[in-house]
This record gives sequence, C-alpha cells and structure tokens, in this order.
Amino acid sequence: MCGIVGYIGQQDAYDIVLKGLQRLEYRGYDSAGLALYDGKNLSICKTKGKVSELDLKCKNEQLIKGKVGIGHTRWATHGEPNDINSHPHQSNSGRLCIIHNGIIENYDTIKKVLEDRGYQFKSDTDTEVLVNLIEEVMINEKVKLGKAVQIALNQTVGAYAIAVFDQEKPNEIVVARLGSPLAIGVGDEEFFIASDASPFIEYTKSAIYLEDGEMGVIRLGREPRIRKINDDKLVDPYITELQMSLDQIEKSGYDHFMLKEIYEQPTAIKDTFRGRMLADDGIIKMAGIDDHLEKFVNANRIIIAACGTSWHAGLVAEYIFEDIARIPVEVEYASEFRYRNPVIHRNDILIAISQSGETADTMAAIKLAKENGAFVFGVCNVVGSSISRETNAGAYTHAGPEIGVASTKAFTTQITVLSLIALKLGKAKGTISNSDFHSYLHEMESIPSKIEIALDKNDHILKVADNYKLAKNCLYLGRGYNFPVALEGALKLKEISYIHAEGYPAAEMKHGPIALIDEEMPVVVIATRKGHYEKVVSNIQEIKSRKGKIIAIVTEGDNTVEEMADHVIEVPETFEAFTPLLTTIPLQLLSYHIAVMLGKNVDQPRNLAKSVTVE
Ligand code: F6R
Repeated sequence: MCGIVGYIGQQDAYDIVLKGLQRLEYRGYDSAGLALYDGKNLSICKTKGKVSELDLKCKNEQLIKGKVGIGHTRWATHGEPNDINSHPHQSNSGRLCIIHNGIIENYDTIKKVLEDRGYQFKSDTDTEVLVNLIEEVMINEKVKLGKAVQIALNQTVGAYAIAVFDQEKPNEIVVARLGSPLAIGVGDEEFFIASDASPFIEYTKSAIYLEDGEMGVIRLGREPRIRKINDDKLVDPYITELQMSLDQIEKSGYDHFMLKEIYEQPTAIKDTFRGRMLADDGIIKMAGIDDHLEKFVNANRIIIAACGTSWHAGLVAEYIFEDIARIPVEVEYASEFRYRNPVIHRNDILIAISQSGETADTMAAIKLAKENGAFVFGVCNVVGSSISRETNAGAYTHAGPEIGVASTKAFTTQITVLSLIALKLGKAKGTISNSDFHSYLHEMESIPSKIEIALDKNDHILKVADNYKLAKNCLYLGRGYNFPVALEGALKLKEISYIHAEGYPAAEMKHGPIALIDEEMPVVVIATRKGHYEKVVSNIQEIKSRKGKIIAIVTEGDNTVEEMADHVIEVPETFEAFTPLLTTIPLQLLSYHIAVMLGKNVDQPRNLAKSVTVE
C-alpha cells in the first residue's frame, strides 16, 4: 500500500531514493515519484508506472543533485494512477513537499474548508489536501513545520506514514505514522526514512521504528526528536539493530523473487523450527507460549483472524489445533470479524496471522479482541512490525523477507509455527501421547528434505503447466487438511496469472461446482494417501466421467489415481497434518510457470500490493 523513502545527509540522494523505491516496489507499483532538494533548488519527477519508468524519466529531465530526497511508489487509493496524482505533492506556495502512505478519510471536508480559504488543488489526492492543511497551520498559527504537522494530523482521521520537508529548513525532515509503518535508519551524519528497513540496510543496521501515533523531527547533527502526536510527550528513541542482510532482499540468480522464495522453503522452515524444536529431547520451546502456557491450556477457544494466504494458514491450523490439542477453533476473515460485533470472552485467545504484520484489517481485529479482554497472540514474519508490537505475545515465522507479492514461504512457515504450537499445547494438555509427540517432531524435522524432493519435480510441473496455460477457469479440490491448500492453490493461480480459479472442499463439488465441469475445465485435485483418500478418488471419478481434465497431487508411488488423472505430480509421504507443507509446493510452481508462460509480472501482479495497510 505505497512505499515511502527519504534521505537526508552528505550523499547524493538520488541513487539512495531510487534504489529504495525499487526495494519497496512490492508495496505498490502503479506510479512513482521523487523530489530532490539542494538547499536552494527543488526538482520533482513523477510518473504513472513503475520505478524503472521513473528512473528513465528522471534521467531525461536531468534533475538537480540534492542531499535531501524523498520518494514514493504508489498503490492508488484516492485518484487514478497518473502523473499528477503521483507523489510527492507540494503545498500551494511550493514550500512544503510531502510523501504519504495511507488514507486521510476526512480529506473531503478539509479540502472544502481549504478551498473556501483560497487553496487550489492540482490532484485528486488526499495527500495534497494534507500538505496544504499543514501549510495553512504553519501560516495561521505561526509555527514551525514539526508543530504544524502535529496540529494538522490531530485534525485528520485515517492512516498515514508521511515524510515532509520545508524548503526553508534544508536540514530537516518531519515524519509521522498512524496505521502505516515507518522506520528511520540512523547513519553517520545521515538519516534514512522508509516503510521498512530494506532501502537502507546497506548503509546502516541501526533503525528506529516509529510506534503508531508517533512523529519525529529528523535534523542533521542531532538525535531524532520523537514525540506522541496527540499529547506532545517526548519519547526516548529506541534504536534496533537490524538482523536482515542485503543478500536476503536480492534475487540471487532466480528470475523472480517468487521462484526464489518457493525454493527457499526448506531453509525457511528449518529457520522456523531451529532453536525451538528439539526432536531428540522431545521438547518444543517457544517463549511466547511458555510464558502464557496456562492461558493457552485453559483457553475456551482460539479465534484465528487473518486475511488472504494467512487466512488459509489459519484454516490449516484449525485442523491441527482441534486434532492434536483438542481446542475449539474459529477462523475468521479479519475484515469480517472487525465489523461483526463478535462474541469474545475473556478466556478466548485470538491468534492473528500476518506475514507483513501491517495488514489493517488484521490489526483492527486485534484491537477489537483486546478491548474485549481476550489475549492476543501474533504470528508474523516481519520483525518489529506493527502487529508484532500490538499483540500480547507472539512467535515469528523467521521466513526471511518475502518480496514476491504472492505469498509462498510465509504460508508454509506460518503452518510450521502453528503446528509447533498445536503440538506443544497437545503435550501440555495430554491430548497427544508422548510417543506420538516424538513421532510428530521427528517427522517435522524431515519436512525440509521432503520439500526438496517436491521441488525436484519442477521440470515435470513446467510441462504440466504448458498444457493449461490457456485455460480460462480452473477448479481446485481438497479435503480435510488439504481443503485450505486447494483454496491457496486457487488464490496463487488467480493472483499471478489472472486465470479465474476457485477452491472447494472436494465433497462440495456435487453441490454446485460440478455443473462447471466439461472437457475445458482443468481440475486440480489433492489426493494424497493420508486423508480421505478413497473419498477423493471417488470425486476424481465423478470429474472424469464428466470429461474434466485432472491434475492430481498424489503421494509417491500412487498408481490408482495415475490411471484416472491426465497428469499426476508426486509429493513424498508424510503425516496427514503435515501434508499441506508438501502439497502446497507443486501448486505454487504450477501457478508460477503458468503466469510466466503468459508473460505476466509474477512478482508484481496488477492491482495488488504486498502490504495492505488500508481497509
Ligand atoms: C496472497 C497474499 C495475500 C496476503 C494478505 C494478508 O498471495 O499475499 O493474500 O496473504 O494480503 O497479508 P499479511 O499476511 O501480510 O497480513
């Protein structure tokens, strides 16, 4: 949902801002822009389209060299993607220059007031309204930029991460956040600003993550001055040492981040359980659970709230929590939960799952659950993200940066974390025997190498993909633990190839979707030996007799399904509860290859953004 970057220091800002925008492009990529300031002159360049188009345009326009720079990559909310609506925006006098990620909900009311006072607007954006409101406050109240930003933001409703500078103060950038992330990189006589730390990781490992509702005045030659937006209280800036490396955020020879991230899954899953699972000793250590074990053991029920792929991971978790820990689970779309007046009890636990840790709907679900006295546990990938800080406790997935917009390794590592929690609680509650517990742990240890085997089928999957690249629709079916995998497989295909796809529990097919089946309809069926195998085989026969094309994901050595299906893709045998960790892999690769064959932008599918910080 838009990425913002800023720099103030001794270096030429252009390369830093532009490279930063490329790293943040996963957050939005319908337009981009930047501003450079050298203390006297200002250059602004912006364009509809990607950061590469911005780079070309900037080079043609021969911008000034500035040691102050701000940049923005946009996922449009107010106003269509075009050059004028792209950020940065300037105030009417031209003095202030701003970039903004988020939405100012009451912008229309503010705009009318400003128009009555003579302000004129070039764009349709809420951001241009905000920068003019700040200017109006500066003039009316005779205050400096920092104070004006604070007063103006207290008049707005909505979400924002902003960076704004005043041409009369060339050594200063003012930042603020509410609901959208913002990190400040602290270098030697230089500061960086970004939606996440990836734009400045090669320059500094020291970062200040602004908390929600905080703002900062960043001035060269002194420590950033951070304060609460609504009560003026100064806050001691907390400097975090970043663990991320540059390597992790580059493609390392793969054609796309998505493919790299698919192949990273064996390592990512090992990283998820490393230090937590001691299979030989029969121990799972997870501080977030250990510190609150009694709460979990005595919980009435677990509510899982998430969106998209993370919601699918929640659905897999529902099976494993109920199976192994015998705790009732409800899985909720965070966006529905937050507006439904749900019944929440004090001894309910809400588990919020989010790769980015920034999803606005999931954040709102957390706040609602907390207000109702529930204990909230977060499963996030991005360390230090808003959700990880808002929750009472949590566990990171440790998948490493996920840059491809379509989620892959985040999904399997979320399932890994949630499986570890279910096993730990099962042991604590006595709902799983010691010997079964040990077997699960040993089986989990073998999952990364089994994923390697599933990945080795890539060449075969590429050939299968070639048969279906021109399909208009596709159905995905699975039962039990693999029903959510069917949903996830369908989501992956539609989001990156734009082929319409639906996932269903296999048995639901005869209650409607079977009407769609004819010789044109590919049906991907997850038919692994563990988990209602015979029933799924019957479903395959039903599809076959209606001439549907069957792509079956089967357990190694399965001959029965092979005879019925048009194509089979094998995965190794594992425990039923862990099959999603394997069956997901061929579905990711299938979608990937189809999208590449269709010439789609796999890493940045149209209309999507990696981090959805607006509702
Ligand atoms: C799909 C995808 C999205 C996200 C969803 C939630 O590939 O990536 O559906 O899963 O937007 O995002 P997080 O997990 O960051 O809360």
